[in-house]
Order: sequence, then structure tokens, then C-alpha cells
Amino acid sequence: MNLDTTQFQGRHVFVAGGSSGINFGIAQAFARAGAKLSIISRSADKVAGAVAALRELGAEAQGQSADVRQPEAVQAALDAAAARFGPIDVLVSGAAGNFLARALDMSPNAFKTVVDIDLLGSFNVARLAHPHLRQPGACVIQISASQAFTPTPFQAHVCAAKAGVDMLTQVLALEWGPLGIRVNSIVPGPIADTEGLARLAPGEDALAAMARRVPLQRLGRVDDIARMAMLLASDWGSYITGTVIPVDGGLSLTGPRDFSAAAATAAKGRS
Ligand code: HXC
Ligand code: NAP
Repeated sequence: MNLDTTQFQGRHVFVAGGSSGINFGIAQAFARAGAKLSIISRSADKVAGAVAALRELGAEAQGQSADVRQPEAVQAALDAAAARFGPIDVLVSGAAGNFLARALDMSPNAFKTVVDIDLLGSFNVARLAHPHLRQPGACVIQISASQAFTPTPFQAHVCAAKAGVDMLTQVLALEWGPLGIRVNSIVPGPIADTEGLARLAPGEDALAAMARRVPLQRLGRVDDIARMAMLLASDWGSYITGTVIPVDGGLSLTGPRDFSAAAATAAKGRS
């Protein structure tokens, strides 16, 4: 039995951080299923390129340059999206930033920058989107990371921010459940050909070592995450809310990873 993706025909999917990587892959999957796509990210060039690629798939698509740390910009983008495509059926919140650094090597602004993008940005997107979400029926998907529940050296900022994202998911599920809005987090594993993985496992050897560590013995694919997003947004997911779902080949069962070598490589590049 296959998931019936025709149910996404004409649905409005808004993706924050949707111009590249995993989030763009989610946007592409919904576009192939006939949804209308709105995306935002900081770079106007990346947004334009992603919108063009989504249109090439036959989808109606539009986007704006907006930084999730700036509520006015997010508000303007959401208003424009709703004016063009109507109420939002699926909200994907995945804007994020990362770098490897020990807590003692992070300035207050370094720590704050990642918390502001990942956590405050997710709050801004969800809170400002709320008046535009279809009620009942909307599905909010936050893109988290295993750092949320695995204390990981060199990742103090991401651990703190993504733990907050998952707690936000659970609180919003409680507050918005009676309105018929579901809220869940997806926790991607190491996903091949993404900026996030390139920053944590630079080079072929590091990627191969990461893949060996995964119980299922392979890196993830963007489609692995897009399929979980579609399942959550579909009628198959209609009784799922407030959950934090790893899609990681079992990697989060294996404990913290050792990023010391990758951090040394990254530090050389910075100095
Ligand atoms: C220590 C660093 C640093 C580093 C930046 N900073 N890089 N500190 N080590 N390697 C400090 C800066 O010195 C500055 O502090 C502060 O952080 C803000 O830096 P800016 O460059 O001004 O910030 P900004 O332009 O807003 O860029 C945000 C960014 C950048 C996070 C630093 O890397 C970015 O835009 N990233 C987006 C793309 C990305 O990261 N994708 C991966 C997502 S994956 P001072 O004190 O000097 O002002 C992910 C993790 C999931 O999220 C897990 C994967 C497995
Ligand atoms: P990515 O391609 O860098 O995706 C991040 C996206 O967010 C980009 O489109 C970026 O575009 C946008 N963005 C960053 N800062 C923003 C801001 N302040 N305001 C608005 N948009 C912003 O990296 P990715 O690896 O695919 O990561 C996507 C998501 O998956 C993230 O939430 C990440 O934490 C999560 N994740 C990734 C992995 C992995 O293996 N890759 C594993 C676990 C979790 P602009 O530069 O144009 O802003």
C-alpha cells in the first residue's frame, strides 16, 4: 500500500529555510505531488534559484528573502504567501546554522547566533504563521537534530537550540491540538550531500566513518526525510502530534560523536 500523495494536490506548503539541502528536498517532494510552495531564506539568489527549480517540476511556487531572526520580514513573507496561495496546510520550519567549536571558544554572540536562528527563528515562524494556518487541519513540522537529546562536545549552541525546538514542538502541540493543528519534530540523521553534514564530517574519510557508525550502515538521503514529512502531513499522520521522530538509521542510539578531528580541520580553515 502506497501513501496517496494526490492528497497534496493544491495544498499550500510553506518552508522556512527552504532554499537548500534537506528543507529544499522536502519542498521538491511536495512540489512533485502537486502542492503550491512558498519558501524563505536569507539569500535572495538562493530563493530565486529554488523557486525556479520548483516551477520546473510543474509546481506553483514563490518565495521571499527573509531572515527568521527578523519578525517583520517573516511576517511580510507569510502575508505575501497567504495572499497568493491561501491558508497554509503544511508549515516546515528548518532554518538553521552550525559550526564546530568548544563552548569556551564561542563568544556570547556565537552561541546566541545559533540559538537565535534555530530556536527563536522557529518560534517566530510558528507564532507568526499561526493566523495563516488552516484550522483545523494544518501540520507543522520542525526540523530538529539529535543534538537535542545527545549532549555533544563542540555543539553546545546546537544542543541547546534544538532541545528548545523540540520542547517548543511539544508545547505547541498541546496549545494548538484543540484547534486541529498538529506539531511534530523530525530529527534527520547524517544526510548525504548537505551543508550540515559537510560541516560535521568534512571529506570522504569522515563521511565513510560516519556511515559505518550508522546501525543501518549508510548515510541518509534527503528523500528519507521528505518521506517522513509527507507521512506526517498526510491522513496517515492525522493522529500524530507532539512527537520527536528520529529518521537516522539508528544513529542516535549510539551516543555522542567525536567531532574533535573535524573541529581541528574547521579551526585551521578559520585562522
Ligand atoms: C567560533 C564562530 C564560528 C566558528 C562563526 N562564529 N563561526 N565562532 N567558531 N567556527 C561566530 C562569529 O565570530 C560571530 O561571533 C558569531 O558567530 C556570528 O557569526 P556571523 O558570521 O556574523 O553570523 P551569521 O552571518 O548570522 O551566520 C550564521 C552562521 C553561518 C551560523 C555563523 O555559519 C551560517 O549562516 N550558517 C547557515 C548554513 C548552515 O550552517 N547550515 C548547516 C545547518 S546544519 P562574534 O563574537 O565574532 O561577533 C545544523 C546542525 C544539524 O543546523 C546537525 C547536522 C548533523
Ligand atoms: P542547509 O542547506 O544549510 O539548510 C539551511 C537553510 O536555512 C538554508 O536554506 C539557509 O539559506 C537557511 N537559513 C539559514 N539561516 C537562516 C536564517 N537566519 N533565516 C532564514 N533562513 C536561514 O543545511 P541542511 O544540512 O540541509 O540543514 C537543514 C535542516 O536539517 C536544519 O534544520 C538542520 O539543523 C537539520 N539537520 C541536518 C542534518 C544533516 O545531516 N544535514 C542532520 C540533522 C539535522 P540561506 O543561507 O539563504 O539563509
